[in-house]
Amino acid sequence: MKRVVILISGGGSNMVALCRSMTGDHPARPVLVISNDPEAGGLAKAREMGIATAAVDHRPFKGDRAGFEAELLKPILAAAPDILCLAGFMRVLTPGFVGRFAGRMLNIHPSLLPKYPGLHTHARAIAAGDAEAGCTVHEVTPVLDDGPILGQARVPVLRGDTEATLAARVLQKEHRLYPAVLRAFAVGDRRLVML
Ligand code: GAR
Repeated sequence: MKRVVILISGGGSNMVALCRSMTGDHPARPVLVISNDPEAGGLAKAREMGIATAAVDHRPFKGDRAGFEAELLKPILAAAPDILCLAGFMRVLTPGFVGRFAGRMLNIHPSLLPKYPGLHTHARAIAAGDAEAGCTVHEVTPVLDDGPILGQARVPVLRGDTEATLAARVLQKEHRLYPAVLRAFAVGDRRLVML
């Protein structure tokens, strides 16, 4: 059974979708949900599901990424993960941290990468007049929102869409895509998943 640690910063709806998927004959189980924000709504949701949680507030580190990551690493290493899933984790990780988990860390990003790495993906898609938007699950490498793409799901951009309506449509797809990719990844299957 593969041990999965999930990193979140907010509401954790992708984390919930991942955890709900890891039952029965699934090859992985969630062992820890960790947040850089002690107030993240997802932490309570994880506890309700009976999953161990931890929080390491990044703010006292005042931009000292390596110092923050050293604290973050302690509960992560104690959980002995096989796989790390970034699920709405909004801190940039250093190459040192990423390198430690090379080939074992996934991220979900709310755009059709390589389009729109970084923030405000939905606003940028609308502003560009794109007919389609979507989400991507990829392996994490030291370059932000880069790394081998393992899955993508597309949605139409509709007339009158706002950032919020498009984000909600994409999020529904995220909740299907991430579990599908994780399930395959956990058995070493890196074939592209398209939804
Ligand atoms: C999701 O849309 C995820 O793709 C995005 O944050 C949201 C988190 O929602 N991630 C990023 O923007 C990463 N740069 P959730 O907390 O409900 O899963």
